[in-house]
Amino acid sequence: MKIEIKDNIHYIGVIDWDLRNFHGYSTHRGSTYNSYLIIDDKIALIDMVKGPFANEQIKNIKEIIDPKKIDYFICNHLEGDHSQSLPVMKELVPNAQIVTSERGKKGFLRTYKKDWDIKPVKEGDTISLGKRTLTFVPVPMVHWPDSMVTYCTPDNILFSNDAFGQHIARSKIFDDENDLAKILDEAKKYYANIVMHLSTIIKKVLEKVTQELKLDIKMICPSHGVIWRSHLGKILEKYVYWANRQTEEKALVIYDTMWHSTEKMAYAILEGIRQEGVEARIYDLTSTDKSDIIKEVLDSRGLVIGTPTLNNGMFPTVGGFLTYLKGLKPPAKVAGAFGSYGWSPKGGQEAVIEELKEARIPEIMEPIKYQFIPDPEELDKCVEYGREIAKKIKS
Ligand code: FEO
Repeated sequence: MKIEIKDNIHYIGVIDWDLRNFHGYSTHRGSTYNSYLIIDDKIALIDMVKGPFANEQIKNIKEIIDPKKIDYFICNHLEGDHSQSLPVMKELVPNAQIVTSERGKKGFLRTYKKDWDIKPVKEGDTISLGKRTLTFVPVPMVHWPDSMVTYCTPDNILFSNDAFGQHIARSKIFDDENDLAKILDEAKKYYANIVMHLSTIIKKVLEKVTQELKLDIKMICPSHGVIWRSHLGKILEKYVYWANRQTEEKALVIYDTMWHSTEKMAYAILEGIRQEGVEARIYDLTSTDKSDIIKEVLDSRGLVIGTPTLNNGMFPTVGGFLTYLKGLKPPAKVAGAFGSYGWSPKGGQEAVIEELKEARIPEIMEPIKYQFIPDPEELDKCVEYGREIAKKIKS
């Protein structure tokens, strides 16, 4: 796919329509690996694509210029979806200069094990292409240590790599040509699953870009999904909101169940939260993918996790979810745990509490648990548990 997005700046990325799993992240709408070609006195190719799409990237370039004329390969990020076509490109254009961050240089040499001459850049370094200039800004941990962004003047285009991306395959590349609600939903899921735990760093980068460097950005070209040209204010506003770890009066009840006892408790807790007027959602871990739940975790103030006790511990789906959750450092302010047990009263729910502590949730309630099948009075107590959590959310 090739589209001129500005005079002599071309989108030459590829679309992965059938991608449904991106290292564990469910991609219901597929994805794209975006790449851009800037033609000036010198020619720069910004970002590579995933390995199987290398020939498609080359074909797109050939429809515009002879790839051998490329002077620079600007590599903003080492991860495979943005770098795997580099060995093929480098073989085709051996004299093109690879440009990346200092950490990127080490990473590229280690990953691809080639004798490449790589030019490392630091913050503020520039390359003149003729009428246009590229300025490099490493943004370590947004989201890898090697990550950097490239700013093109005088067009004021930010090639932001993973930042502001969305996993969505689309035939129209600009934000205003797509359903805004859908792309913002994918941007939210992307933020939640890729960088939620790095919000403090993202916040500093956003402050630097908007307040210190005062960049007058006219277009953001990420490495996945649509290009932002009409709704820049909206996506920046969303990033500021998420980076500040803002939450809503909302609780998630997330559970798995063996013989429906924990499920009964889950719905009773949900009812208690609802009775207090707090928004509540329920997710059965066998039915909903963890990355879809994490999208909702991004702005939820309360989390209630349910597990039956199995082999004196958590149900495996619950354990797997909590491992993922705690690494992403959710912004929730209050959490609880519940579930049924059979012969041993100690086990699953206590294990959940330990995981929630590791997730650094400030207030964690004592777990509520019942043996075998909860009776109506016990389910009433679950309703009360939900109400208590909701009151904490509102306070
Ligand atoms: Fe960090 Fe899209 O890769």
